[in-house]
Amino acid sequence: MKRFLLAPSILSADFARLGEDTAKVLAAGGDVVHFDVMDNHYVPNLTMGPMVLKALRDYGITAPIDVHLMIKPVDSLIPQFAKAGASYITFHPEASEHIDRSLQLIKEHGCKAGLVFNPATPLSYLDYVMDKLDVILLMSVNPGFGGQSFIPGTLDKLREARKRIDESGYDIRLEVDGGVKVDNIAEIAAAGADMFVAGSAIFGQPDYKQVIDAMRNELEK
Ligand code: DX5
Ligand code: ZN
Repeated sequence: MKRFLLAPSILSADFARLGEDTAKVLAAGGDVVHFDVMDNHYVPNLTMGPMVLKALRDYGITAPIDVHLMIKPVDSLIPQFAKAGASYITFHPEASEHIDRSLQLIKEHGCKAGLVFNPATPLSYLDYVMDKLDVILLMSVNPGFGGQSFIPGTLDKLREARKRIDESGYDIRLEVDGGVKVDNIAEIAAAGADMFVAGSAIFGQPDYKQVIDAMRNELEK
């Protein structure tokens, strides 16, 4: 498996041509499709559901799809996203009544499971569930919108999460989401991240490959 995974967030893609734009970003070198689900309840925005994910699979998208649930309640949509073709499903622990149960539900449906931490959500939610995690996602902006600036305090939190992962001995990805750009990705990797979500930085440019190559160059320095 690749040491670093780049996960373009299709929140910033052209929704009128979502299949085509998703295929284009993967052909340009994206590893994983980051799929942001917002419900206008847990976050003040509304995006896509399982039908859209299934439509991407039917269109021919075979890359892993990383479903980031910004919804409350969490559990009711997990089976639908799994059946629609999700590869990873992550959720915010404060949005779930029973974190352990939600993680188990994701696993039972054959997907990789993860917890997402808002900038002010403590990592103590990890204490009793490390054995059930495939990914830990740290938000480096407040969730709800693309195009926001990276919150610098996330770097210390990444170092803390990296330490917890290494000490646990489990094989867990450390993903970061929000404000990731060519000019900060190296610093974010140095703090311990190995999976990078980027929306506006990629889709905001005409040449996706140029941005993705530039990000990889920064990571390989
Ligand atoms: C925000 C979403 C992000 C968003 C990131 O709530 O979770 O995935 O698309 O967008 P950028 O990369 O533009 O900050
Ligand atoms: Zn996201």
